[in-house]
Amino acid sequence: MAVIARQCPNIKVTVVDISEKRIAAWNDANLDNLPIYEPGLAEVVAESRGKNLFFSTEVDKAIQEADMIFIAVNTPTKTYGKGKGMAADLTYVEQCARRIAEVATSDKIVVEKSTLPVRTAEAIQTILEHSPHGAQFEVLSNPEFLAEGTAIADLFQSDRVLIGGRRTPHGEQAVQALVDIYANWIPREKIVTTNVWSSELSKLVSNAFLAQRISSINSISALCEATGANVEEVATAVGKDNRIGPKFLKASVGFGGSCFQKDILNLVYLCQQYGLDEVADYWKGVITINDYQKNRFASRIQQALFNTVNGKKIAFWGWAFKKDTNDTRESAAIYVADQLLSEGAEIVVYDPKVSLVRMQLDLQTLLEYRGETETDINGKLAKLQSVDSAEAACTKAHALAVITEWDVFQTQDFETIYTQMEKPAFVFDGRKILNYKQLQSIGFTAYEIGKATED
Ligand code: UDX
Repeated sequence: MAVIARQCPNIKVTVVDISEKRIAAWNDANLDNLPIYEPGLAEVVAESRGKNLFFSTEVDKAIQEADMIFIAVNTPTKTYGKGKGMAADLTYVEQCARRIAEVATSDKIVVEKSTLPVRTAEAIQTILEHSPHGAQFEVLSNPEFLAEGTAIADLFQSDRVLIGGRRTPHGEQAVQALVDIYANWIPREKIVTTNVWSSELSKLVSNAFLAQRISSINSISALCEATGANVEEVATAVGKDNRIGPKFLKASVGFGGSCFQKDILNLVYLCQQYGLDEVADYWKGVITINDYQKNRFASRIQQALFNTVNGKKIAFWGWAFKKDTNDTRESAAIYVADQLLSEGAEIVVYDPKVSLVRMQLDLQTLLEYRGETETDINGKLAKLQSVDSAEAACTKAHALAVITEWDVFQTQDFETIYTQMEKPAFVFDGRKILNYKQLQSIGFTAYEIGKATED
């Protein structure tokens, strides 16, 4: 919304949230305190805040004043009831729709920005049509394709903007109104308009295709390690084919983030609902390989450390699900840590943007979801620590595991780090960002995803 405000100075954008704390942070004079860390975001907020961009908790007032309302609330995977662990939890979306229906006294265009299962717009439309004030509503789907860490750049130069609307005169008018907003900075040929369902489904499918590429290359990384091929070389060779392309072929410790797993599970659930079991199983395979990759990484550490990590200290570089973000949702770090902690390891993390409280909450949420006892959970949490430098994490560590590809990890003083670690000193590079040859020449036993150790 900040980018819309920045690119359309004649439009007044009001971002509302029921959380006073969150809104206060968005209004904080110190831009370092914004609730989200994203390169370039602070500058965009600074440019428009107080001019045509406002942050407020006055939800009802904002609803009444607006011509267009974007619903951008969380749609996490359900943790209860039917569809638990797979379907999207639409509680917050429904609450928004009900509030708009209750409060709005004039016609509105309502835009689904949250990623939603196919046919959610229909449910929103039905709720809105029961508005007691006789206002007319038109619901559009406008999924967001930005990636975290590059969000601002992605929004300024989107590959495409997708807008789905009803194929009725009113629907088409509403689509045009939203097209006109984006056309302020996005070339018209990149603005794709479809029917509502195509738009909703395209978002799930885009994320499923992207995640599928990562699982494909990660599955091949296991084969490379077994056979002596190098997954980087294979990815380069394969990616040179124009039809395949080079992007999203970077083998890793496994993908994380708030979208990939959630959206694929959503897609799988949708297929199952329509009785398309083979299609559901096909996409489920992407998640299966991702889980396998995270387990495989943790198991590799254990195996290399003479089959036990009990009482050993493992340094983690990174906890965020990718670099340049403080987001940790579904980060591979949580699962790798859990597996090693279950085997008695102690983990010391350094992440430039993630606090220990966040790490502990991530782990606790996973363990509680899995039904572990309070004693077990507390025992594991006590063995998860964090420090404030990459080097400090390695002091007296038996092994270093690179989990997030933060640039700062590439320029560490590895000679010094080596002297401070227990010997033999192991490095497990889950992101393929370190110089393997240099590490070996210093004396480390280094392991890289997708490359046989002998190579
Ligand atoms: C993703 C989509 O890219 C974006 O279009 C959508 O709107 C939201 O979901 P995001 O989750 O922010 O964006 O990050 P992305 O860059 O896609 O990375 C997702 C995960 O895949 C990260 O853990 C990343 O490290 C991993 N990844 C990505 C790989 O392991 N290998 C790759 O080649 C690319």
